[in-house]
Amino acid sequence: MIRLFNDAQGLSRGAAELFAGMAQRAVASRGSFKVLVSGGETPRQTYALLAQEPFRRRIPWERVHLFWGDERCVPAHDPRSNALMVRRTLLEQVPLPEDQVHPIICLQDAHEAAACYEALLRLHFPDGCARFDLAMFGLGEDGHTASLFPGSSALDERRRWVVATRKPDEDMARITLTPPPLNHARTALFLVAGAAKAAVLRRTLEGDRSPADLPAQLIGPEDGTLFWYVDADAARLLAPRTTGMAGRTPDPT
Ligand code: 6PG
Repeated sequence: MIRLFNDAQGLSRGAAELFAGMAQRAVASRGSFKVLVSGGETPRQTYALLAQEPFRRRIPWERVHLFWGDERCVPAHDPRSNALMVRRTLLEQVPLPEDQVHPIICLQDAHEAAACYEALLRLHFPDGCARFDLAMFGLGEDGHTASLFPGSSALDERRRWVVATRKPDEDMARITLTPPPLNHARTALFLVAGAAKAAVLRRTLEGDRSPADLPAQLIGPEDGTLFWYVDADAARLLAPRTTGMAGRTPDPT
């Protein structure tokens, strides 16, 4: 399902609305809200909104468990850290209990770090199905999502939930969840904003299915809902049939 917003601000507010509503419903029906957050720049504004009223008071933070979909293997205070970005934009402002915040810790051996995070996930999902209530994703200009990069062997991983990987032109290792746990989520939410994403968004949504080249195409909950929240700049190359916007105006939020 694609929701088109006028701009990144409206998209971020729409994402915060969805997050808050899902948190309330998950806690009401299952007693907790297990959310997988993404890194990068796009979700920053959403995280910042969640830390402010009216969203802050609407979310039952004491029942939230927060996990990461991927991480860069850098020191905790390195600005490239996804955990640091979420801590600064959200966690330092809300009463989410620290023992319910589950960052991916990767200092020395990336393969060991991946195994440790998988063990943690399996503790939280003992039935063997990582059923996140909400899994958030971004879209890289090369079609990656999480740290699932084009051509990576991680794309075909069906047994392990977490693996060590690398982005081809980077000097650091990364840790990423693999397609199986990502696709067990009840809801998957992509946030895509900005003109730089227009070409890759069109290839991903309207082009041939080619997940080896466009790993974001691998994401599709087996028993859940897939949302694409996109702004007008990112959606400018999409056909009206894709956005369902023939004759409609983008969401005002
Ligand atoms: C990461 C993210 C990654 C991100 C995309 C889009 O660790 O880099 O998990 O998958 O979502 O690269 O990033 P932007 O939102 O910055 O464009």
